[in-house]
Amino acid sequence: MRTIDDLDVAGRRVLLRADLNVPLQDGQITDDGRIRASLPTIEALRARGAKVIVCAHLGRPKGEVKPEFSLAPVAARLGELLGAEVAFASDVVGDSARAAAEGLADGGVALLENLRFEPGETSKDDAERGAFADRLAALADLYVGDGFGAVHRRHASVYDVPKRLPHAAGGLIASEVGVLRKLTEDVERPYAVALGGSKVSDKLGVIDNLLGKADRILIGGGMVFTFLKAQGHEVGKSLLEEDQLGTVREYLRRAEETGVEFVLPVDIVAADAFAADADHAVVPADAIPAGRLGLDIGPESGKLFASRLADAKTVFWNGPMGVFEMEPYSHGTRAVAQGLIDSGAFTVVGGGDSAAAVRRLGFDEAAFSHISTGGGASLEYLEGKTLPGLQALED
Ligand code: 3PG
Repeated sequence: MRTIDDLDVAGRRVLLRADLNVPLQDGQITDDGRIRASLPTIEALRARGAKVIVCAHLGRPKGEVKPEFSLAPVAARLGELLGAEVAFASDVVGDSARAAAEGLADGGVALLENLRFEPGETSKDDAERGAFADRLAALADLYVGDGFGAVHRRHASVYDVPKRLPHAAGGLIASEVGVLRKLTEDVERPYAVALGGSKVSDKLGVIDNLLGKADRILIGGGMVFTFLKAQGHEVGKSLLEEDQLGTVREYLRRAEETGVEFVLPVDIVAADAFAADADHAVVPADAIPAGRLGLDIGPESGKLFASRLADAKTVFWNGPMGVFEMEPYSHGTRAVAQGLIDSGAFTVVGGGDSAAAVRRLGFDEAAFSHISTGGGASLEYLEGKTLPGLQALED
């Protein structure tokens, strides 16, 4: 894969695909991790005299212009972090985008409006996507792919534009891929994987693949109740994916066969409603009362999980163990984060919610070996899938 050092960028327009998909609340950015992770490549391009046209998506506006998904707040934050003006285009490939691209001085930065306001960006129709990619590519001379969090999407800005312009991978993609390669090619054992988050169905592919690779798989978060149910336990009103029970039973059986250890919680924090101030109590994992729903793993499980991480040499963690945004249900996620740190292992936190949880719970990011910017992307990489955005950069 070419890097930006292989491109002659001075005085040229570079279209940089970044992942600036940050969480927003009432128009305010609540975690700017992805913007900060994009800075080194932007700064490197500026320092070499490129005219940098950044393009990115925010949320899933499904091809329509929806003001609540505007990248305007991101442009403002990016400007603050760069300490430089960022020209914000109020459209993606229209007059404003062209004017912003043409008005750039060497070292200047522009940000285009949300790519997903254009139906062509996410279209499944190759021709429609290609037509949009043509217009996007026409804004620039060169393309740099650095939106690691979106490389698993076969979208115009990720997959089709690099086919139309001389291209290279940015520093973020290069470092993310370097870390994930370490997890798939020469992993140091014991290799433990902690998986959480709400949906089992999002994690099936990765569990399937890890059953042949990891030594231990720790399961928490909303998805754990499908595992507990598959073991024959009642889960009350907890989140449950009935249609996945068969697959989960099969995984539990395969794990026994292959000697992979599944670590499931022994206690659960169960509440009478999905609310921070709901009545809640710690109950055994095999005795969740009928009217309650599990919102976190319990304290004994936190200790158990930490103990199964303690001697690991490599740990990958994706997905919070509970509803960490609400204090009473944040302890399991905290215990796992601390378990990663205390293990002294090579620790990788896989994107999205778990990365946000680490920051929100006040952990020092530097205490982990790597915090990925890509949730879905890192999971699909570990599933062994071909990621369109990486494939396009390799060609
Ligand atoms: C993410 O948040 O994981 C990436 O930005 C990709 O977003 P998407 O899941 O909406 O494609």
